Amino acid sequence: MLTNKPKTKILVDGGDPNETLRVKNLIGFVDGQTTNPSLIAKNPEIQQLIASGHTLSPEEEKNEYKKIVQSISPLVGDAGVSIEVFADLNTTAKDMLVQGQEMFRWIPNAYIKYPCTHEGLRAAQMSVQKSIRVNMTLCFSQEQAAAVYAATKGSNSPVYVSPFVGRLDDRGEDGMDLVRNIKKMYERGDGHVHVLAASIRTINHLLCSFFLCAELATVPSKVLHEWASAGFPLPDKGFTYKGADANGKPLKPIQYKELDLNLPWENFELAHELTTKGIKKFVADYESTLRRSA
Ligand code: G3P
Repeated sequence: MLTNKPKTKILVDGGDPNETLRVKNLIGFVDGQTTNPSLIAKNPEIQQLIASGHTLSPEEEKNEYKKIVQSISPLVGDAGVSIEVFADLNTTAKDMLVQGQEMFRWIPNAYIKYPCTHEGLRAAQMSVQKSIRVNMTLCFSQEQAAAVYAATKGSNSPVYVSPFVGRLDDRGEDGMDLVRNIKKMYERGDGHVHVLAASIRTINHLLCSFFLCAELATVPSKVLHEWASAGFPLPDKGFTYKGADANGKPLKPIQYKELDLNLPWENFELAHELTTKGIKKFVADYESTLRRSA
């Protein structure tokens, strides 16, 4: 069991309450959980239904999602359970907000996940005005994180922004640099946005998230088990991180940009091809659980 708790809150990145419970037994606590359509599609019970030929209607899929987060909710601490709205590239802010309002009522500790797109940002802006907690997902640029800050100013609870480290690494860019750059940019802010390091694939990513003082990290159970097997190491003062791709090649650094957090959020460049790709992947995984209409 972990005795020396890092300052970074630890969330399980998954869609299976039994897995969350196993992590809780292993570490002694779980601060929170993040879910998304791909992780829900992988839930063992949903997989079983699909394997038996019983695919779901959208309403049944929503009810399954609700059941899953309701089982996870009491297992986790104050970082809550992030629930993602179903959004494709045409989903409007209004539609996301309607879903978010409903999902927010599912459990007492919900955070609603919206993508870092123009419509996602608009939905987040309206949500925080209604005291709905939000987690802005699929963040791949410092500009998107600046827009999250500006759009959610005045929120009465912390807003999460989720930079996806591993997916930047996948294309040869050092994803940990994005976490570092966002943290640095927010030093000049009011502290209302917390950085949630996501798409964590290795213990090294996790240690670097601790070292950079990310407020939260969401971590697949597999990586948490590896961390436990290694004796729960924490980074020391001299910790150095060397990002490498799957072939061991060094990653390209992502440069810090001077951005003015006081600008209106619409002024920031929001488009990023990995955000678009990520939305398409979530849609495909979500649809894989659905009944095909004849
Ligand atoms: O937290 C985000 C995560 O679920 C995405 O991870 O490994 O699919 O990039 P990955």
